Amino acid sequence: MLNIPDFFESFDRRGGFPALPEVISEIVHEIDAERISIVDLARLVQKDMSFAVQILAHANSPAYNMPNRVTNLSLALQIIGLRPLKALCLTIPLFTRFKHIMGLPELWYHSRVTALCTRIAAEKFRQTLQVDVEVAETLGLIHDIGKVFLFLEADEFMQCQMQLADDPQTLPDWKRERKALRFDHSFIGTRFGRKFNLPPAMLDALLYHHEPEKAQYQQELVYLCALGDQVATMIGAIHPDFRFVEPQILEIQKRLGLLPVHFQDLLQECVRRSLGISLIET
Ligand SMILES: [Fe+2]
Ligand SMILES: [Fe+2]
Repeated sequence: MLNIPDFFESFDRRGGFPALPEVISEIVHEIDAERISIVDLARLVQKDMSFAVQILAHANSPAYNMPNRVTNLSLALQIIGLRPLKALCLTIPLFTRFKHIMGLPELWYHSRVTALCTRIAAEKFRQTLQVDVEVAETLGLIHDIGKVFLFLEADEFMQCQMQLADDPQTLPDWKRERKALRFDHSFIGTRFGRKFNLPPAMLDALLYHHEPEKAQYQQELVYLCALGDQVATMIGAIHPDFRFVEPQILEIQKRLGLLPVHFQDLLQECVRRSLGISLIET
C-alpha cells in the first residue's frame, strides 16, 4: 500500500508535476501578472499553434453558445476569459501529452462536460447564488486534475480502480483512494492548484468538491462544482474509475435551493449543450 510520504517522496524525486510547455508557462505568467492586453496575449498564444487551435475549438464549444463560428484568436480569448484560459493552460497540455494512458481521454471528457454543466448552473442561478460564472466553469474543468497524477504515479492502483468502476457495490472513487492510499485526488489537485497560485476559494473547492459541506470560502461555489460533477455523470460523462451518481446529489440540490422543476430544467439544458462536446477531442 502507498502512503503519503511514499507517494510524494517518489513523486518529488521524479520532478513533481510535469513542467508546462514554455509558451504556455509564459501565458500563465502573463495572466497572473494581470498586465497583458488581449491582443498581446493572442500573439503569445499563436506561438504554440496546436494550443491556439485548441483555444479556438474551445471558444466554439457549446459553453459559449456563439451564433457564428469564431475564427479570430483575440475574440476567442475575450469569449473564454482569463480564468478559464488559465485552467485550459493547466489542463490541455497534460491531457494532450498523456492521452495514450487508458482512462485519461474519458477523464478529460468528464472534465469538459463538468465545466459546461457547472457553467450552465452558474448562469441559471446567478441571481440567487451570486457566483462568478467564469470561476464556476474553471472549477468544473480542473476539479479532478489530481486524478491525472494518480494515473501517472500510481498506475497499477488506477487500473484496478477502473476495473471496479462498474460494480454497484463499490465505494465512490475518492473514498476508495483514501482507504488504499490515505489521501485522494482532491488532495493532490489542491497541491497542483497551489503550485499555480490559484486563489484560496478555488483551492478550497478543489479540496472539497466531494465534501462541499466542509468548504470554508464561498460554499455555494463548491456546491455548484459538486452539482456540475454529478450532473455530468448523470448525463453520461462518467469518471473512468466510478460510473455512478452519488446520493449526496439530493443534499446538493437542497443546499442550493433547487426545486425538482429547476433541476429538471438544468438537466435538459446540460444534455442539449453537451451534445456538442466529443469524447475524442484533445
Ligand atoms: Fe473528484
Ligand atoms: Fe468528477
